[in-house]
Amino acid sequence: MIAIGCDHGGVELKKQLIEHLQARGIEVQDVGCYTEESCDYPVYARKVADLVLKGQCRLGILVCGTGIGMSIAANKIPGIRAALCGDCFSARATRSHNDANILCLGARVIGSELAFCIADIFLDTDFSGEERHVRRIGMYD
Ligand code: RB5
Repeated sequence: MIAIGCDHGGVELKKQLIEHLQARGIEVQDVGCYTEESCDYPVYARKVADLVLKGQCRLGILVCGTGIGMSIAANKIPGIRAALCGDCFSARATRSHNDANILCLGARVIGSELAFCIADIFLDTDFSGEERHVRRIGMYD
């Protein structure tokens, strides 16, 4: 199960991502928001983070206009390692090296096809588990 959330700037891309992931057979828990009415992105960052931290969802995805607000808000929550990615190389590296548990995307920055590619790689890449990466991650908190 993957948790997904957005603010008003990410509603359309979130909808497209859910369709894309479900077509791949991936179960998605959508925490909102559901309309383009202005809302506060930290609310949705918290909802996705809670599902990930409780182990109810393996990983999370957060979408806002830039992806920046979501990544700042999510990274304030202990145990969350949120990565704002705009390319496929970073999506693979942040899972492999940082064990990132939330992917942040900027709906006003990247197109939907690139977002699908980034999300697929993020969800399909495991943490390497290498000692140097475990050690560095241990120094985050
Ligand atoms: C909303 O206008 C916008 O500020 C938000 O989606 C996000 O980009 C914040 O970082």
